[in-house]
Amino acid sequence: MRLLLIGFGNVARTLAEMLSVEKNNFPRLNRLQAIPVGIATAAHGNVYNKNGLDWAELLQYFGAHSGFQGHSSFTKNTTLQLIEYADYDVLVELSALSVSEQGEPAVRHVRTALQRGKQVVTANKGPAAFAFRALRELAGAKGVRFLFESAVMDGAPVFNLARTALRGATITGIRGILNSTVNYILQEIEQGESLDTALEKAKQRGITETDPSYDLHGWDAAVKLCVLGNALLDKELHPGNIRREILDETVAAQARQALLRGMRLKQIAEIIPDGALITGKVFFSAVRPVDRFYSVSGSGSILQIGTDVMAPIIIQQSDPNLYDTAYGVLNDLLELRENRISRHLFYSEKLK
Ligand SMILES: NC(=O)c1ccc[n+]([C@@H]2O[C@H](COP(=O)([O-])OP(=O)(O)OC[C@H]3O[C@@H](n4cnc5c(N)ncnc54)[C@H](OP(=O)(O)O)[C@@H]3O)[C@@H](O)[C@H]2O)c1
Repeated sequence: MRLLLIGFGNVARTLAEMLSVEKNNFPRLNRLQAIPVGIATAAHGNVYNKNGLDWAELLQYFGAHSGFQGHSSFTKNTTLQLIEYADYDVLVELSALSVSEQGEPAVRHVRTALQRGKQVVTANKGPAAFAFRALRELAGAKGVRFLFESAVMDGAPVFNLARTALRGATITGIRGILNSTVNYILQEIEQGESLDTALEKAKQRGITETDPSYDLHGWDAAVKLCVLGNALLDKELHPGNIRREILDETVAAQARQALLRGMRLKQIAEIIPDGALITGKVFFSAVRPVDRFYSVSGSGSILQIGTDVMAPIIIQQSDPNLYDTAYGVLNDLLELRENRISRHLFYSEKLK
């Protein structure tokens, strides 16, 4: 499987490490046989070699030279030129989210690859939040997949679960703590920190969005809520239409007050379908110890999925890190690989 990577940031480099220098730690990933043919970045140079590149060498070179300039496979081709003309099987879109640009340029990256009949895997929330239906239909028309498991809850199986275990169920509602950075900041405030210091600590841990206002202003949770609503409820949600409460000094005071009353303030993201109408909101609410959301600590997250046939299903994640996100991307790649094999078997059997 030949990959074209867009972005060589935290997630992409972790993925590269898992497939090379750390591969002995993850034996079940070895069957993936994913070979990079190209990597595009915004400002650190691009590389391309249709015969394949080497993960470990790329990591080493990138680290030693702070980019790909001067690499033997360095190319002046732009990101979009590589997506349009390079020889690859799967586009792995790992560029940063832009809310102000409505998910661009990632939406265009994904659309261009799908138009060429390439498979797409992404951890970027933008494409599924801002253009889900169009991209899903395009993928369907071209007979390829558009997978984005890591876009919500860092690789924990949300979309995989819905696709497989919930085939016969209609999802009726979604409620979760989706922004682990805000959860961490609220916990720091409970422990006596000011909002500014709590935010600074989150930045030092590297868990804030590149633009921390995406966390504080509820954009990150709103965008994730749209990905969930679009993909699981088959609605057309837009981040701009999600009501958001901002994490400010008033909310910080509410968090301290809630603690005095034996409760914890949580940022909740919720979709409530109401016939044809659908409301999505991101808000703060004090929860009691009996509430499952109470125990979500640090940079953890939780998602409650309501269905027409089953009792609510809860997915909870404790302090995920970059390995979780990179794993979600790799699991999507495994799904593509296994699809290809089962399709091949199916057609070969039919031919017999
Ligand atoms: N970090 C997490 O734990 C996590 C969890 C879930 C989902 N995600 C999502 O996964 C994606 C990657 O996250 P990350 O933490 O790896 O981000 P990151 O460290 O900020 O890396 C982003 C990468 O994208 C590149 N890039 C930006 N615009 C580009 C363009 N137009 N063409 C080519 N490359 C471009 C950047 O290049 P330069 O370095 O040259 O600027 C950089 O290499 C993001 O969408 C993020 O929201 C991340």
